[in-house]
Amino acid sequence: MPTEAKPLAGKAVLVTGGARRLGRAIALAMADAGADVAVTYLRSQSHARNLLVELDRNSVRAMAIRCDVAQEKSVRAAVRQVAREFGAIDILVNNAANYETVAFDKITVKQWDAIFASNTRGPFLVTREALSYLRKRKGKIINMGSLGGLRPWPTHAHYCSSKAALHMLTRVMAKALAPEIAVNCVAPGMIDLGEKSAAAFMRSMAPKTPMRRNGTAEDIAAAVMFFATAPHFITGQIMSVDGGLGL
Ligand SMILES: NC(=O)c1ccc[n+]([C@@H]2O[C@H](COP(=O)([O-])OP(=O)(O)OC[C@H]3O[C@@H](n4cnc5c(N)ncnc54)[C@H](OP(=O)(O)O)[C@@H]3O)[C@@H](O)[C@H]2O)c1
Repeated sequence: MPTEAKPLAGKAVLVTGGARRLGRAIALAMADAGADVAVTYLRSQSHARNLLVELDRNSVRAMAIRCDVAQEKSVRAAVRQVAREFGAIDILVNNAANYETVAFDKITVKQWDAIFASNTRGPFLVTREALSYLRKRKGKIINMGSLGGLRPWPTHAHYCSSKAALHMLTRVMAKALAPEIAVNCVAPGMIDLGEKSAAAFMRSMAPKTPMRRNGTAEDIAAAVMFFATAPHFITGQIMSVDGGLGL
């Protein structure tokens, strides 16, 4: 992006679970728009290291911190480290999550609680810890929801419920944190990340989608960038990015 078109220059962004896949695409888009970018990772340390090399090419400040978003202490330490290093947090992207396919009657309590811990409690905890910094900067929060939080997928009861809860949390936070902070949510549909294991499923979904294709990481990053650069007056919105599949 040319220097004159850097809408996030001077902004500090935190992307949870940003070392790989969609989080990585979001982190790169933010850096391309001029933001300093911090990502958290849990297990993907080497991916995080590689991402830092790429982020460095954008001449922005970049950092990667290990953080378990389900654990209060871990979240507190990570958020404080970002604020200390960057001096501010302007945009928080609650991206870290887990996804799992399990028949309804086979979901264990452990699986149910683990999905809610990362997908719902995680965004709550990270937001709560980042709040004072975001308030100071009249910042923005973007939660990563899911089409599965809007449509009932029978073999994903815990995942769908955790994302539906996150959609509601988005709306609650939009009211509770106004007028300083704008809170919105991007709800991806079928996103093709080029994985061989998902290729047959992706091929089957494209013709069922009004736009006749699956989404890309770039589609999702562009939607997150929309909220990151949108007027502060836009808040509490859940935006499906699904090529019309949920219609
Ligand atoms: N991909 C899709 O098609 C799709 C569709 C609908 C919604 N979404 C949503 O969009 C977001 C990004 O999607 P994605 O497919 O890129 O996500 P993903 O690969 O399933 O997860 C993103 C990252 O979350 C991190 N994570 C998981 N549990 C964590 C925890 N307890 N603490 C900290 N980090 C944790 C992992 O980090 P490490 O790798 O470092 O362990 C992982 O790389 C997610 O919220 C997802 O639910 C994605």
